[in-house]
Amino acid sequence: MTELTKLFSPGKIGKMELKNRLVMAPMMALAAFGKAAITDEEREGYISPRVRDYFAEIAKGGVSLLLGESSTILPEAQAPSRAGAWDDKFIPGLREAAEAVHQNGAKAAFQLLHHGRILTTHRRGMSHPEEIDPVCPSAIPWGRRREIGREASKEDIKHLVDGFAEAARRLRDAGFDAVQVKGAHGYGIGQFLSPHSNHRTDEYGGTPGKRARFACEIISAIKERLGADFPVIFLMSSREFIEDGITLEDSLIQAPLFAEAGADALHVEGGVADMTAHITNPCYLYPDALFADDAAAIKKVVSIPIIVGGKIGDPILANQTLEEGKADFISMARPLLADPELPNKAKEGKFDEIRYCLWCNNCWDMDWRENFKKRGIRTCTVNPALMREKEFELKPTTSPKKVLVAGGGLAGMEAARTLAQRGHKVILCEKSQELGGQWNIASQVKGKEHYARFGEQMIRDLNKAGVEIRLGQEVSVELVREANPDVVIVATGALPRTLNIPGAQGKNVVQAVDVVSGKASVGQRVVVVGGRYLGMETALMLAEQGKHVSLVTERELGRNQRYLERYTLAPLREKLVEHGVYIYSYSPVEEIHEDRVYVTHGPEPFFLKADTVVLAVGVRPQGKLLEELGASFPNLEIHAIGDCVDARDAAEAVREGAEIGRAV
Ligand SMILES: Cc1cc2nc3c(=O)[nH]c(=O)nc-3n(C[C@H](O)[C@H](O)[C@H](O)COP(=O)(O)OP(=O)(O)OC[C@H]3O[C@@H](n4cnc5c(N)ncnc54)[C@H](O)[C@@H]3O)c2cc1C
Ligand SMILES: Cc1cc2nc3c(=O)[nH]c(=O)nc-3n(C[C@H](O)[C@H](O)[C@H](O)COP(=O)(O)O)c2cc1C
Ligand code: SF4
Repeated sequence: MTELTKLFSPGKIGKMELKNRLVMAPMMALAAFGKAAITDEEREGYISPRVRDYFAEIAKGGVSLLLGESSTILPEAQAPSRAGAWDDKFIPGLREAAEAVHQNGAKAAFQLLHHGRILTTHRRGMSHPEEIDPVCPSAIPWGRRREIGREASKEDIKHLVDGFAEAARRLRDAGFDAVQVKGAHGYGIGQFLSPHSNHRTDEYGGTPGKRARFACEIISAIKERLGADFPVIFLMSSREFIEDGITLEDSLIQAPLFAEAGADALHVEGGVADMTAHITNPCYLYPDALFADDAAAIKKVVSIPIIVGGKIGDPILANQTLEEGKADFISMARPLLADPELPNKAKEGKFDEIRYCLWCNNCWDMDWRENFKKRGIRTCTVNPALMREKEFELKPTTSPKKVLVAGGGLAGMEAARTLAQRGHKVILCEKSQELGGQWNIASQVKGKEHYARFGEQMIRDLNKAGVEIRLGQEVSVELVREANPDVVIVATGALPRTLNIPGAQGKNVVQAVDVVSGKASVGQRVVVVGGRYLGMETALMLAEQGKHVSLVTERELGRNQRYLERYTLAPLREKLVEHGVYIYSYSPVEEIHEDRVYVTHGPEPFFLKADTVVLAVGVRPQGKLLEELGASFPNLEIHAIGDCVDARDAAEAVREGAEIGRAV
């Protein structure tokens, strides 16, 4: 067994003793702006029982410290669905959350946040936007809307510093063991730290040291109010990754100042809201542990502990990062959404049982999802029980049935496993020779190779649960008649669409899925049609092979029926540009010829030369079996799940499999 000695050794932040080196990074539990499904209390900032239960779940999983999500420090700084720390009225709810963490064996901290100029955006979600004050270092336009916050006077700065200290006092009174001050990601304090957003010429701007003054005053004020022993953790972006933003050199000057001001630990991540927020939530396109080297550099200039986070989801990598002396603690955010039990499983060496984060960022892609619309919560592809843990507890069935599942993609596999675990007799038929469906192709996309592990885990779990798996068996009306099940689950998935235009059936036209899986050969000059992820990923892959690639898409890049999640779209778009892919948005393809493609853009049609045309124009739900079974067996219990109902993605397929697995 691989023993993660370093990761599971005790550590200390100030005088706070921690049982291991794994901490949960702050994550807003409720999805902001989920108006329909969030209670009035939650929207105002009260910690609700479901958030408390979620905290308990994470603590139970074995982290040593839970860093609770951002909370607002002042009434005029509220943002929708952000936890409140701006009034004593929040203390009872916060106390329940802290107690839930303690009862489950972990220490609890909570984060303090001021949004600064970002409030110009967030106030639109508030019922009294005029009461929200986007006070920030400099009144300069920012973001796509070029909005302008209000420049802080010295009085404002004093008021904010006091607001942080008083909010910290509330958190302490609620029973938290420490507070985290958010200086990262371009929020209020980060705006002071960065030359990009701080243009002041007084003692709060001009040099890295002066820009750190506001943060240091906050840290000192909390220490003064709560005593030297109450730990303060400062979260910083080592770099902002924008032209005039914070550099590592700035951070190496500022970090010792935070320590001198009284910080007991520095938590190192990177990126800045809006502009490089995709780095803050790095998707599969980024390397693992992308801030670890910066953390190591910062560790050299301070003597307080360093926490590092950002795409460290594998406990073995976490242990190695500590062994290499790059940090003293590891933080995980999404990996604990994916599997709150990760720490316990890792400690026991049960690595195969961990549901690893895929870095797919489906947890950020929310607006259209049922979990968001109905429940106001996030979705996780590999953890459909996220924030529904109690509802999702598996209860053995009292009336075991014979269930036939048609289709061995993610939806069918999740349903089959869950049903079998509950005591039903389950037969899973897959018409091809292997389980996995579209996921097998997804796992061949460059950067998504790790997706395969999730598919393998599902297959192993099916076998463990005792599902009878029949490969190479297509479900038909005759087969159902013969098998005579009590229930049929149709999970027949989706297949690639084609285009209904002249030339679309030509020999030079291939499907992107066949390119990705190496089944189709592609010429030197390529036109990829379709600008959502498969189109972009295929274009990128071909450009990396040195081909001349044009990407044409009917709408804007990243959109077909739905927008691609923004933290994935941004790096994909950047990479396409870097690799010289020619991008034609709002350019529907009209005709395909042997050596060219005709495209319309505005009134002027034009053509692009192409040896091969690659189609990535979405998928078509396979609903034929469902229709036939409905017509042939009007009294049979039939359910349909996954892409065969409506082609969406893996998170929805797994969720529907998990739900039907509990409903039958
Ligand atoms: C290249 C690619 C990349 C992707 N990347 C992502 C991503 O990054 N994130 C994400 O969330 N999603 C991604 N997806 C989408 C995701 O893979 C699918 O939404 C999801 O896997 C759908 O699962 P499903 O079980 O509903 O259907 P499918 O995977 O289509 O499975 C259906 C299965 O049913 C079988 N079948 C059909 N008819 C019958 C029958 N009559 N009898 C028996 N068996 C039958 C099929 O052979 C197939 O195996 C990607 C898809 C592709 C193709
Ligand atoms: C759902 C979600 C909510 C988040 N909310 C917060 C937050 O409230 N405060 C904060 O500082 N960071 C927040 N983050 C960022 C994470 O703390 C962390 O920096 C980021 O996810 C990278 O870490 P990871 O790779 O371990 O996920 C959030 C991330 C996610 C996925
Ligand atoms: S949805 Fe994807 S990125 Fe988000 S936690 Fe789950 S597996 Fe990780």
